[in-house]
Amino acid sequence: MNVSVVILAAGAGTRMKSKMPKVLHKICGKEMLFYSIDEALQISDDVHIVLFHQENTIKERVICAYKQAYANGALHFHLQDHAHYPGTGGALMQGQSAGINAKKPFCYQYDEILILNGDMPLVRSQTLKSLCQNKAQIVMSVLHLQNPFGYGRVVIESGEVQRIIEQKDATESELVIQDVNAGVYKFHKSILELYLPQVQNANNQQEFYLTDVIFYAKENGVKIAALQVKEEEFMGVNSKIQLSSAQEVMLQRLREKAMEQGVIMHLPHTIYIESNVTFSGECIIEQGVQILGDSYISDSHIKAHSVIEQSIIESSDVGPLAHIRPKSHIKNTHIGNFVETKSSILRGVKVGHLSYLGDCEVDEGSNIGAGVITCNYDGKAKHKTIIGKSVFVGSDVQLIAPLKIESNVLIGAGSTITKDIEYGDLALSRTAQQNIKDGFFKFFSPKNEEKKEE
Ligand code: UD1
Ligand code: CA
Repeated sequence: MNVSVVILAAGAGTRMKSKMPKVLHKICGKEMLFYSIDEALQISDDVHIVLFHQENTIKERVICAYKQAYANGALHFHLQDHAHYPGTGGALMQGQSAGINAKKPFCYQYDEILILNGDMPLVRSQTLKSLCQNKAQIVMSVLHLQNPFGYGRVVIESGEVQRIIEQKDATESELVIQDVNAGVYKFHKSILELYLPQVQNANNQQEFYLTDVIFYAKENGVKIAALQVKEEEFMGVNSKIQLSSAQEVMLQRLREKAMEQGVIMHLPHTIYIESNVTFSGECIIEQGVQILGDSYISDSHIKAHSVIEQSIIESSDVGPLAHIRPKSHIKNTHIGNFVETKSSILRGVKVGHLSYLGDCEVDEGSNIGAGVITCNYDGKAKHKTIIGKSVFVGSDVQLIAPLKIESNVLIGAGSTITKDIEYGDLALSRTAQQNIKDGFFKFFSPKNEEKKEE
């Protein structure tokens, strides 16, 4: 679309009570600001981000996540002159660097400018697109809320928007207004050029409000299109309570999308999935499962209360109560309860119970007994364990890495393996069992009258 998008992300976010900039707080594993950038890039190749608080941290993170868009010149950054021009209106002004025209707007590629608050992670590109299709010189978004607390109230008279009053500036009678400013606007370039310089900071927060542009334009007879929008997409996130409410909405969307693709979910409201998780084929996800990061799950059954982090699982069953940690690739494999993997590749393996497999590769037909542990860390560095095909690792074996175990190997239960094992060998490392005659009675007196069997 021929529209430039500006994302306002320079606020301090004090209501968040956090050292981290508000827009970097995550929803389903993804930064709030990144949701806005993703949607903006769907509709525009001229996206501007206004920063101030922790400018460099945010900029670095954005450039790293959007290398391509940044290289293509689709992303631009501006620094708000916060000391002189605080507020959402100030965020659009060039500031002192522009000299006497400090209040003039930045330069944009297109004549239509869509402005988004950076704390609205739920808004979708499709909705933004339809908002942009309205040809009025000013288009704003209005929410009707049971509880309008915190939002700017929209004063509407005879069906027309007159002005917007912030919570902190409102009178008692204005506070009861339930129509609020949702924080997405489209302005024609000429509107910003004419009315942004008129904005003053004579209000209780001593800030330059973007919303005053609408007031001045209205005073000069400009028509304002006020579009009713839904809270589900337009809620602003100012506090950690609102962060959790927005996450609930996002989670529901992600779960519904997965189910529409054919995933079966047991008790979906107990399942947590992050925004970069992808599914394919037929999957079953049981209650209480968490799937995080860029995980990919294909034709697999993830049983109750398992946690999958940043891993690939194909044609396998996992859990209940398994922990698949980052960089695991699990294929045609059975993983039972209380199994933990990390940076491990398992192809056609059975790991039934209570194991830790870290930094290892296990090949087809191998069986890992209960209680097997790869000792991958010597206190200084991580080492690999490579296990071939059709290896039978007995219960309670410690595999001290680095280690290479060739195919068709049998390892006796309870062994501590420190040396490589060759094809076809049986490895045992345990002391021979001794049975000491009447040894029990050296420590205890007889507890019952049961006679020793003859
Ligand atoms: C703003 C609106 C309010 C609306 C609400 C919707 C104004 C004056 N008020 O209030 O009418 O109902 O959003 O959610 O616009 N920001 C900057 N620079 C600043 C201050 C803020 O870039 O100096 C950015 C913030 O990072 C944030 C966005 O602008 O992403 C909105 O700021 P915030 O302080 O959350 O505004 P609200 O008080 O919620
Ligand atoms: Ca806000």
